[in-house]
Amino acid sequence: MLSTLTPQPADALLALIKLYAADPRADKIDLGVGVYRTGQGDTPVFGAIKAAEQRLVDTQESKSYLGPEGDMGFVHALMPYVFGTANPTMDGRIEGMQTPGGTGGVRLAVALAKRSGAPKIWMGTPSWPNHAQIFADIGLELKTFTHATADGVVDMDALRAAIAAADAGDAILLHGCCHNPSGIDYSEAQWDEIAGLVAEAQLLPVLDLAYQGLGQGMEADAYGLRRVLAAVPEALIAYSCDKNFGMYRDRVGAVYAMVADPAQLGAVLSHGYALARAAWSMPPDHGAAAVRLILEDPALVKLWLDELDTMRTRMRQVRARLAEAGMAGRVNMVPLGSQNGLFSMLPLSGEQILKLREDHAIYMAGSGRINVAGLTMGNIDKFIAAVAAVSA
Ligand code: LMR
Repeated sequence: MLSTLTPQPADALLALIKLYAADPRADKIDLGVGVYRTGQGDTPVFGAIKAAEQRLVDTQESKSYLGPEGDMGFVHALMPYVFGTANPTMDGRIEGMQTPGGTGGVRLAVALAKRSGAPKIWMGTPSWPNHAQIFADIGLELKTFTHATADGVVDMDALRAAIAAADAGDAILLHGCCHNPSGIDYSEAQWDEIAGLVAEAQLLPVLDLAYQGLGQGMEADAYGLRRVLAAVPEALIAYSCDKNFGMYRDRVGAVYAMVADPAQLGAVLSHGYALARAAWSMPPDHGAAAVRLILEDPALVKLWLDELDTMRTRMRQVRARLAEAGMAGRVNMVPLGSQNGLFSMLPLSGEQILKLREDHAIYMAGSGRINVAGLTMGNIDKFIAAVAAVSA
């Protein structure tokens, strides 16, 4: 039986991690997978996480099972940050459960959309490659539209046309902030319009919030999500703490469901628990428990938010420097200055991307996506010169 299986290509983004590690060149630059890096090129554990982990070691009395929903203290402590402090449960219409990372959150959200009868899901492309893989694995038909124009701005006409073509009951995946891979986010006015259109078309929004705090700030980055939730009766929300708490390998995430009538919430969550039980049984505890300890302690919250501010400020400085460079050969860097988060796309061919890797030791995704956090004031000039050289 097993001999019928043919080799599958490795995940291109994850394969890049190994290629980079194997490169002996001292001046290599990693702009591949989405991890934050300091100006020295490191990805340190947050100070707030270190403190919370220490407290966890000192105080945790048992590691016995919790249940498929994971640490509900963590799930609830996040809610004011995601949904706002005024009424984070929307009068009992929102509840969630812990998941292994944002990927687990997306997986459960999409599986719940499928189980609730959504015939297909709409998504702007390009998107995070794993989105389409998850839809395919779950068996939800994908319909695509163009996320952004060649000038690096949101293609609102394509989005409007997609929503007009969608059937009531279809799902639509929206990136809450820091669009992956383009960095091109909706403005507040565009979110206002999208919220109305999605509600009118009776679509089920699946909101993926994986980078809160890394775009414009914790509150500003939740604007679109909250605007959509205020307009629609039902929605699913996938949340990741991988980036904004630096928990990558510890896999910390959540999925939330918003329903029209609080009485429906138990049934929806019961499907979430059943799906989780069949897939991973229970989410890993350690990372989510550390995040909960931060969120329960105002001093640690302040430390965490300060660390997040530092990260955001550094990425804005890198973006400003790229924008200031103007043209690098034929590549216009100016739009990168107003884009958000870790990622932006450069209009480079596969051949140019390979040349960057082979001739200049610069590693980026085959799509042309760069992780701007991989750039530092020490390597940015080399990067700009290399892009100019390959695109001249
Ligand atoms: C990325 O897009 O680089 C990150 O979201 C990491 C991942 O899991 O792909």
